[in-house]
Amino acid sequence: MKLKKYNSIGNEEIKSALKVIKSGVLSDFVGSKGRNFEGGKYVRKFEKKAQSYFKVKYAISVNSWTSGLICSIGAIDPSPGDEIICTPWTMCACATAILHWNCIPVFVDINKDNFNYDLKQLKSKINSRTIAILAVDIFGQSENIDEIKKLIKNKKIKIISDTAQAIGSTYKGKYSGSLTDIGGYSFNYHKHINTGEGGMIVTNNKNLAQRCKLIRNHGEAVIKKNDKSISNILGYNFRLGEIEAAIGIEQFKKLKKIIKFRQKLAKTFIDRISNLEGIQTPIIRKGSTHVYYVIPFVLDLKKFKYKRKKILDILKKEKITGLVAGYTNLHLLPIFQNKIAYGKKGFPWSSFNKKIKYQKGLCKNAEELHDKSFFYLALCSYDYKISHMKLYAKKFKKVWERILK
Ligand SMILES: Cc1ncc(COP(=O)(O)O)c(C=O)c1O
Repeated sequence: MKLKKYNSIGNEEIKSALKVIKSGVLSDFVGSKGRNFEGGKYVRKFEKKAQSYFKVKYAISVNSWTSGLICSIGAIDPSPGDEIICTPWTMCACATAILHWNCIPVFVDINKDNFNYDLKQLKSKINSRTIAILAVDIFGQSENIDEIKKLIKNKKIKIISDTAQAIGSTYKGKYSGSLTDIGGYSFNYHKHINTGEGGMIVTNNKNLAQRCKLIRNHGEAVIKKNDKSISNILGYNFRLGEIEAAIGIEQFKKLKKIIKFRQKLAKTFIDRISNLEGIQTPIIRKGSTHVYYVIPFVLDLKKFKYKRKKILDILKKEKITGLVAGYTNLHLLPIFQNKIAYGKKGFPWSSFNKKIKYQKGLCKNAEELHDKSFFYLALCSYDYKISHMKLYAKKFKKVWERILK
């Protein structure tokens, strides 16, 4: 059964984008101070929508969440050589955004339950050079924000949320991404809602918001006279276009419905297979909601006759679409193994007199999960119906009779 690609774009988006195209004003940003420093009418409306949706004081659109990460890290005013803690289980932009400011990524292992930081290891990696922790809301559920906050109490360490995969999920009644110093969302093609490429930074801190706006828009405008902390900033062109913003406004109207359906898809599947032996279905923290960018699973390999590859091959032969083995191990990427971020002399690591190693075994749980026992169903990629979930659950049950020891 060939499934269509996931598609959340409808007539509303087409109409709205067309209106912008016909107007000829495809972007209305200007780099210097003034109204246009904040972008065009659709960009500002899109940001207003995000601001009220996530209940934050400031929402700043960007042309990708990668740009958003670069802005967010730049906004906390890092110095070269500062350390920022990162999970190995995220998209590479988290780590490269850190390197971008000549800061040093310090990887901390994850736990096997919800793929959030191993809090014991996190505590052990915090030191006087640590300026921030990237809290990644991986697969659709928030990081354990209160526990991270407890660890850094009375320390000058910021938390930056990456909620690229978990838009609309909640943690103790608040939206993921809005609970920390600064956070944000991705609107790339695979996300719950998308604008093709795009992102949104959210914060309740005025200074961080202003710094993000400067980094987004060339950094040349002086917002506050004589404020050296906010001028003289390295800026870029991370501005979102009007077409994307117009699409985003329409997409936002659909977000709650999309999330509800994702949750129904996931529940239909999970409820039917959760009592199968040897498979861990998503563990949702009390007080959190999961929006299922993907449905993550962990196999207890002692229970099976076969390794993960063979198990997934058997499932794929049953025509189950969207099963993916493993996730990632950022610390093992060549950029970290060879320390080749800038030039060939090991910069930025070589410039600071502290040896950081990214050896295999650094993040044992992440490595074990990636190499051997983790897989997911890519709800973000295909146009699944409830009937697919029912059928897939039936097939899992059938396969399980063959593969258990
Ligand atoms: C966890 C995470 N962080 C960052 C990004 C980067 O977002 P973008 O593609 O909008 O640059 C992604 C994109 O998939 C992601 O999943």
